[in-house]
Amino acid sequence: FEIFYKLLTLNLSNLGCDGYLGSGKVIDKCNVCGGDNSTCRLVSELFKHSFSKIGYHKIAEIPEGATKINVTEMVKSRNYLALRSRSGRSIINGNWAIDRPGRYEGGGTIFTYRRPNEISSTAGESLLAEGPTNEILDIYIIFQQQNPGVHYEYILPSQKITGPQKPNHRPEAGNGQDEQEKENVNSADQGRSPPRRPDNQVPAVQPPRRGREYNWKQTSATECSVSCGKGQYPIFHCVNRLNHVQVSDSLCDSSSRPSSQEEACNLQPCPGFWDIGEWSECSKTCGLGMQHRQVLCRQVYANRTLNVHTSHCRHLERPETASSCQLKICSEWQIRSEWTSCSVPCGLGQRSREVRCVSNVGDFVSDEECNMNLRPIDMENCDMGACAKSWFYTEWGDKCSAECGMGVKTRGVLCLTNHISSLPLEGCGSERPADSQVCNNGPCENRIEWFTGPWSQCSAECGPGSQQRAVVCLVKSEEGISVMPPYECSSLNRPLSQQSCNLKACGAKWYHTEWSACSKTCEGGFRVREVRCLSDHEVQSSEGCDERLKPAARESCNPEPCMPQIDENCRDKYFNCNMVVQARLCVYDYYMTTCCASCIRVAHKQMIHRGRS
Ligand SMILES: *[C@@H]1O[C@H](CO)[C@@H](O)[C@H](O)[C@H]1NC(C)=O
Ligand SMILES: *[C@@H]1O[C@H](CO)[C@@H](O)[C@H](O)[C@H]1NC(C)=O
Ligand SMILES: *[C@@H]1O[C@H](CO)[C@@H](O)[C@H](O)[C@H]1NC(C)=O
Repeated sequence: FEIFYKLLTLNLSNLGCDGYLGSGKVIDKCNVCGGDNSTCRLVSELFKHSFSKIGYHKIAEIPEGATKINVTEMVKSRNYLALRSRSGRSIINGNWAIDRPGRYEGGGTIFTYRRPNEISSTAGESLLAEGPTNEILDIYIIFQQQNPGVHYEYILPSQKITGPQKPNHRPEAGNGQDEQEKENVNSADQGRSPPRRPDNQVPAVQPPRRGREYNWKQTSATECSVSCGKGQYPIFHCVNRLNHVQVSDSLCDSSSRPSSQEEACNLQPCPGFWDIGEWSECSKTCGLGMQHRQVLCRQVYANRTLNVHTSHCRHLERPETASSCQLKICSEWQIRSEWTSCSVPCGLGQRSREVRCVSNVGDFVSDEECNMNLRPIDMENCDMGACAKSWFYTEWGDKCSAECGMGVKTRGVLCLTNHISSLPLEGCGSERPADSQVCNNGPCENRIEWFTGPWSQCSAECGPGSQQRAVVCLVKSEEGISVMPPYECSSLNRPLSQQSCNLKACGAKWYHTEWSACSKTCEGGFRVREVRCLSDHEVQSSEGCDERLKPAARESCNPEPCMPQIDENCRDKYFNCNMVVQARLCVYDYYMTTCCASCIRVAHKQMIHRGRS
């Protein structure tokens, strides 16, 4: 197949696109043989919109007749491009399946789908096609992350050429797979309909009505250059419209000359060939990994290329589908320092050393770049042996336990771990140093001394008093203690046998007399008594009593009502009987009768009074 293709290009290298050898005419960017690029228009847009929903989103449509299609993601991302025809056929990355990079047929052209597989590459995906397309194609993005921008461009024939083929831009109904992004989809339409000029204003340079008299006609074709598949170009000439007689090409509008596209000329299928896909990404980011590619047996049938059974490629060696790969040498672990000394002078401690992941050019890189399984340890335990112990002790105490004769002195003795390793100590061992030693304050023989008994009780419960104790002269000897006459101790200071004492301060208390007689026998009188604050020990007036606790010095008494004998015959018959009572005239019978009630009341009171006292 490749050989045939080479033959074809060699053959045609000198051939003008008009079919004449050496005519020098080339197909311009608008695919017009000998054209000046004026018959077409470049559509170029950058789609930068992002979406909130993961999935297919339409980003543009490519109208029918588009050529030199280039859809390129600006930067590598986790998004994918996808392509679908208006009729609903998915061409690339449809139905959530991601296709391998490669060549895909659709819309009457072949799309080359690229996905850079170099890990270091930052280039994004791209779809390229020469065109022209024969139907509207929709470009989608399978959105997964922030869209880095998708640039798309294609070339469209200008209005006057493509008038009858103007693509239909009706939005597709019932397309539930995407959110339509119309502002971008329709941008390709802008400026496609220049206002029509009246006929008499057509510029003079444009040969008027030439197209009506003459038109392009395929008169012949180049020789079939292949034994199978495509290998022939049609040759067009300007002919008289009516009688089809060939005339000079200059009489026809060169811009409307049909493009000369390769056609099938030998309908027998070409031999199968291996269509080799791009290698996948290496399975490892460093070190030896594997990569795979798709290898398909394909066969060219006239104007189409089909996938066929591998037996059709038997005659060719099957290309490898897997290969080893290595993007870079893995970084390696390096031990950068000696072990530190153990963290303790004795017993169990730790020691450490520096271990770094170093790239193949000697830079420190993050640990993840090295094989963690091979990482040398950088920390370990160290055993400095049993810690030395030694005896610790205090100074001997000052005092002997006995005032005379044999006693003991003591000191504290402890076995402790010693962390100061520089001291030449050898452990506690079983020989515990003595914690007591004998002492002797001199012989006890005939030592004469004053001995004192306990103090007696204080003579006063409060305030100053005195107390006594017994003081005797004793002699201590080996046989025991014996009491001696006081003069035997006269050479020694005699301890006191009496001292003053004061158990507590004295207080003051309220004192009071008996109540006096009640001032009345009935209907409420009062009685009094004397209350004084006296200090405890000297019976003197004092200010030291609590006023709140002071007993009452006066109180009411005999509250009961007086109960005189009510006698109908004993009434006051005189208006001024109290004068009679005051004048003590009741003793006379006359007044006793006239002022009976008042006189009886007074007598009754006097009787009660006398009875109480
Ligand atoms: C048409 O454009 C192509 C590339 O855009 C350029 O190489 C060529 O010279 C142009 N032809 C004319 C006639 O301007
Ligand atoms: C397609 O477009 C991209 C981005 O504009 C550009 O880098 C690339 O060269 C183009 N590819 C072709 C084949 O024109
Ligand atoms: C392919 O070629 C066959 C025979 O030459 C023709 O009938 C058919 O229309 C062609 N198809 C396309 C898509 O060009």
